[in-house]
Amino acid sequence: MTPPDYEYLRKLLKDHSGLDLSADKQYLIESRLLPLARKAGLAGLPELVQKMKGGSPAFIAQVVEAMTTNETFFFRDKVPFDHFRDTIMPELLQTRANRKSLRIWCAAGSTGQEPYSLAMCLKEMGAALTGWRVEILATDLSQEVLEKSRSGIYSQFEVQRGLPIQLLVKYFKQIGELWQINADLRAMVQHRQLNLLHDFSQLGHFDVIFCRNVLIYFDQETKTNIFGRLARTIEPDGFLVLGAAETVVGLTEQFKPIGEKRGLYRPGDSRVPVAKPAASQVAAPKLTAMAAGA
Ligand SMILES: C[S@@+](CC[C@H](N)C(=O)[O-])C[C@H]1O[C@@H](n2cnc3c(N)ncnc32)[C@H](O)[C@@H]1O
Repeated sequence: MTPPDYEYLRKLLKDHSGLDLSADKQYLIESRLLPLARKAGLAGLPELVQKMKGGSPAFIAQVVEAMTTNETFFFRDKVPFDHFRDTIMPELLQTRANRKSLRIWCAAGSTGQEPYSLAMCLKEMGAALTGWRVEILATDLSQEVLEKSRSGIYSQFEVQRGLPIQLLVKYFKQIGELWQINADLRAMVQHRQLNLLHDFSQLGHFDVIFCRNVLIYFDQETKTNIFGRLARTIEPDGFLVLGAAETVVGLTEQFKPIGEKRGLYRPGDSRVPVAKPAASQVAAPKLTAMAAGA
């Protein structure tokens, strides 16, 4: 790949998805984009760049999606789900006891293992949530992963990663060699496409935000901007959960770590207005509240 083609792709990916590639990631671009070029009947990456410069938004979206890393699995890292069950939910059951409703957002939900892990945690709480309205919103930049998440269908390999066998038996149905999460669990999760670089204020406020393993791909300025906007989207006494390799430290004062609870943050006192991103393309969501635990 020529240096100008690499620079073109680097800038385009940064602008469209936030992906911040260093100068030495040619191999990554080649391994992700050569298959796409071949599928599109193109000889190689120079032709792919030419086609992109031709301006087809649909093709550019395919390139951006092909460069996303969608790695995820059920109950990934375990600890955040322990926090959810042992710290977040017990507190919210008390503080929201009057309104009996909760809103949870998985801000980069990928193929659904994260939001469905949360849905299973809620189901496991049983009667404690009877009569509550719990919404789980799963968003992602990639339409492809959202489609898979909506289907709730996973391979044997995927259900063997992180999912306890009792939960597999209890909440999934086997379809040939595949497994589909049960319809009542699927109905607890709403899906919509959303780019975190764009305005998301229309989503309303959330009690819990899982934003895990996506900010690591962004530069510091982008992370700080997103933290600022997450701070305006989370309830003042809500919880933010980040990935194991992510932190707010040195990036924002708008969230504070909670003691020894790794990956768990609360809004700080100094929430300040942040600049909205240039693009404002998120339409108001149509969320259907789901009764959990019933
Ligand atoms: C590594 S996965 C993390 C999935 C899940 N949160 C977890 O921790 O297992 C990162 C996800 O972020 C999505 N993503 C990347 N850039 C994004 C952006 N600008 N806005 C929204 N989602 C994005 C990718 O499509 C991908 O599905």
